[in-house]
Amino acid sequence: MTNFYKLKNMPYFSQTVQHIRSSEIRDLMKLATRPDIISFAGGMPNNDLFPVKEVDEIILKMDPNLKKTAFQYGPTSGFPPLLEILKDYLRAKGLPVDTHKLMITTGSLQAINILGMEFIDPGDLVLTETPSFIGGIAVFKAFQADIKGIPLQKDGLDLDELQKILEHETPKILYVIPNFHNPAGIIYSPEKRKKLLDILREKEIVLLEDDAYNELYFSEETKKMTQPIMSLDTAGVEMVYTGSFSKILGPGFRLGWMLASPEIYEKAQIIKQGIDACSPNFTQVIAYEFMRKGYLEQYLERIRKEYARRKDMMQKALLKYMPEEVQWQEPRGGFYFWLRLPEGVDSTDILRESIDKGAVFVTGKTFDPEAKRNNYIRLAFSNMDFNQIDEGVKIIADAVNKYIAIHS
Ligand SMILES: Cc1ncc(COP(=O)(O)O)c(C=O)c1O
Repeated sequence: MTNFYKLKNMPYFSQTVQHIRSSEIRDLMKLATRPDIISFAGGMPNNDLFPVKEVDEIILKMDPNLKKTAFQYGPTSGFPPLLEILKDYLRAKGLPVDTHKLMITTGSLQAINILGMEFIDPGDLVLTETPSFIGGIAVFKAFQADIKGIPLQKDGLDLDELQKILEHETPKILYVIPNFHNPAGIIYSPEKRKKLLDILREKEIVLLEDDAYNELYFSEETKKMTQPIMSLDTAGVEMVYTGSFSKILGPGFRLGWMLASPEIYEKAQIIKQGIDACSPNFTQVIAYEFMRKGYLEQYLERIRKEYARRKDMMQKALLKYMPEEVQWQEPRGGFYFWLRLPEGVDSTDILRESIDKGAVFVTGKTFDPEAKRNNYIRLAFSNMDFNQIDEGVKIIADAVNKYIAIHS
């Protein structure tokens, strides 16, 4: 470790720190802080859509005893009334809340972290989709996993590839995002969900289902496809399901959840005690009231329409401006368009030019567990003003056209 940077009188950084790297993209993003820049970069809910009025009312009218509870520490597993109401909500989705245990976590990212701590020793194999959620990749990296990506197809994971890997390797975890994938925007077909379980039956592997975007479908027809994998016949498969309040209430609440077998839950509780003792009771109490008063359903109906409108507008702009070599699937929910630029195009060059002209997005490399593939870009339409979508897409399309013209 002698070449590793440190200050005098400071011990060497841990191996974990050495496995975390700053990305060139992050450095590029620093250039993108101009106030007038149009940003499709952040995968976050829309600032103007948060249920501020409802939360104001909840706080103002809150029972004084409940208010005191909100200020206090709570049980590690979560505020009991919230756990109960959340169980009902998850039961309605067919999830096995009676045979498995539910735990509130500080964002669903913490649930992934806890699971990583439970299962990953340095060098253990973890399988993810390619592309995958950057936060998940960062967790597995921090635990020094050997990460292998499996290509994502239009209807889910490439199962032939998965089977090939399982013939000669024994991964500890397979991490999937079946609904409105971040960044690929796709949804797994019902057939692939079932087949995935069949492949994993009786294998010593944890299937981690990250369902952060479950509620953000754009049509009733798509809703039928959002049934969690964990609600199917999971006999012989060790599954963990994570979900989040971030996309359905606000990421500032820092609340998520984890549904797991009693054995995994037991260890998770001990780990969480050491991390933060409990997730914020203050926001748990508000989330409980939000659900109890029936505000969640009303709110979801509202935001589904809002996000669908933004998606429509981006689809229109993409069709209008992008050259025909650029391919994408129109999202049926969630926050993201995932664009495939022609082979050989380096999306970092497109990003540089776009930032210069006033629009920013995230390149595909960021979401590649092996930090390789780079002719993809992710455009988030969620936190965008309507009138900026058309203008921002035009800037990016101009950059793509310019690149193609120079290199052809
Ligand atoms: C797929 C996916 N999983 C998990 C998370 C983390 O969410 P949370 O705010 O619940 O930690 C995100 C956030 O963007 C996400 O896109």
